[in-house]
Amino acid sequence: MLIRKAHIDEAAKACDVLRRSILELCGADHHDNPAIIRRWLANKTPAVVGSWIAHPDNVVLVAVEGETVLGIGIVRNDGEITCNYVSPDARFRGVSKAMLALLETAARSHGNDVCHLISTETAHRLYLSAGYEDCGVPQGKFGTTSSFPMLKQLAAESSKP
Ligand SMILES: CC(C)(COP(=O)(O)OP(=O)(O)OC[C@H]1O[C@@H](n2cnc3c(N)ncnc32)[C@H](O)[C@@H]1OP(=O)(O)O)[C@@H](O)C(=O)NCCC(=O)NCCS
Repeated sequence: MLIRKAHIDEAAKACDVLRRSILELCGADHHDNPAIIRRWLANKTPAVVGSWIAHPDNVVLVAVEGETVLGIGIVRNDGEITCNYVSPDARFRGVSKAMLALLETAARSHGNDVCHLISTETAHRLYLSAGYEDCGVPQGKFGTTSSFPMLKQLAAESSKP
């Protein structure tokens, strides 16, 4: 598995991973509620994902194995991690953890001392285990019951994407 910057022509594959990850892995958040799923998926289209890849304020990374996209992660230049989704086909193989470490490295390289994000219920345990702390009142993003604002003070060192 390799994690590297996403190419614009990978938008459709990355979008498919994003949608499947939400639908198939995030049941603890959407509870199969059609209204929540519709709101959550509304902007998860190849065109929108392509616009995220092209945006100069974002670093967009993909985890790949050959031609297959296993995960997508995005960090904004201000240190906000806005996306970290793994394919259901690659769950619990270290993709999200490795992606998170490289998103933090990218945030560091843009001069940030802190990363912040809003975690799903599904991924809350991963972020706690990676050193993030809850930093606010849980929100109801897309109508879900618990989305957790979290932050982590970044260490000085790290690996390169
Ligand atoms: C839970 C999830 C984030 C884990 O990521 P992954 O790429 O599958 O697995 P990784 O090997 O990288 O991470 C393993 C970590 O997941 C967590 N984890 C392990 N089993 C878990 C389980 N059954 N349920 C939830 N989290 C679990 C642990 O923190 C584990 O690390 P630790 O053993 O050091 O504590 C992922 O499977 C998932 O469901 N993602 C859905 C998309 C999502 O919610 N993204 C976050 C948006 S903010």
